[in-house]
Amino acid sequence: MARRVAVVPGDGIGREVIPAAVRVIGGLGLGLEFDVVAAGAERFLATGQALSDDEFGRLTDADAILLGAIGDPRVTDPAYTAQTLGRIRGELDLYANVRPARLLDQRLSPLRDPGRRPVDLVVVRENTEGLYTSLGGRLRPGTPAETALQQHISTYHGVSRVIAHAFSIARTEVVMAGKANAMPHAGALWQRCWDEARAAHPGVPARQLAIDACALHMITDPPRFDVIVAENCFGDILSDIAAGLAGGLGLAPSANLNPGTGRGMFEPVHGSAPDIAGTGAANPVAAIRTGALMLAHLGFPAEAEALEAAAADAVRCRECTPDAGGSLSTGQATAAVARRLG
Ligand code: IPM
Ligand code: MG
Repeated sequence: MARRVAVVPGDGIGREVIPAAVRVIGGLGLGLEFDVVAAGAERFLATGQALSDDEFGRLTDADAILLGAIGDPRVTDPAYTAQTLGRIRGELDLYANVRPARLLDQRLSPLRDPGRRPVDLVVVRENTEGLYTSLGGRLRPGTPAETALQQHISTYHGVSRVIAHAFSIARTEVVMAGKANAMPHAGALWQRCWDEARAAHPGVPARQLAIDACALHMITDPPRFDVIVAENCFGDILSDIAAGLAGGLGLAPSANLNPGTGRGMFEPVHGSAPDIAGTGAANPVAAIRTGALMLAHLGFPAEAEALEAAAADAVRCRECTPDAGGSLSTGQATAAVARRLG
């Protein structure tokens, strides 16, 4: 039976780069069916509901979800993100947000010393807890005594499974980045889960770093890193650092996974980029590489590798958009990748 991919282009450049990725993936002739769901800010602004229950059902019924970007400068209500990204990540329990960063070409590195440039690491971001649950509240809003409480949540269930996933994909080492000295309660729970995971994987080198030191070392000596696991907000920040080191957000893919249920939602690390939406400058490579992660997940490892290699080669040959040193439009850069796939 044909595998079905639910496609949510979303907002801004998501509506440009996701059709580009779908065009390239569709050209591989894998018999995938694409079901486009038009959820997004436009709908939220008009009706207050960005994603209907019926559409959510189409997402949950699909074999994978490919998502562009959620975010629109006209929408400030946090309910919008909660109804879309938050609902998909939360209700499908996609607890591991896997964000690889690999330098496709030397010239894209911000580091001057060539020996320090190579980047090939994966940030595994806890994706369902931390600071992202909306737990908390506001006391005496609008007064000088206004007080906001934004709760950090870490559970034994949530932390142990995401650390286990990090160990399961380690090639050379796992780093856990945290802030136990300033967040002792969460820190102690993460420490317990870390000690258990280390005992379960005695052969895998592992070390702990404070989150700030980790951020620093990622920039000063990126080749030292393989897999980095961190709580939700720390992982959000580290994955943007990783994307910057690997040439920018225009190239950075991500997978939101539940390795237990096999569910997956795939979205580039970048957002909707309203500043360049509609100009033809959006880099389709992040979305195409995100498609490669999706194909590997759907059981097409050879095609996934071919897609990743084609995207990397196009970037190396500067057949890409200006953010990665080329002069092509979104459409031309997409065609450059497609041409390499024959
Ligand atoms: C990301 C984004 C989102 C996040 C925003 C849009 C809520 O920054 O996927 O990294 O912080 O999870
Ligand atoms: Mg982010």
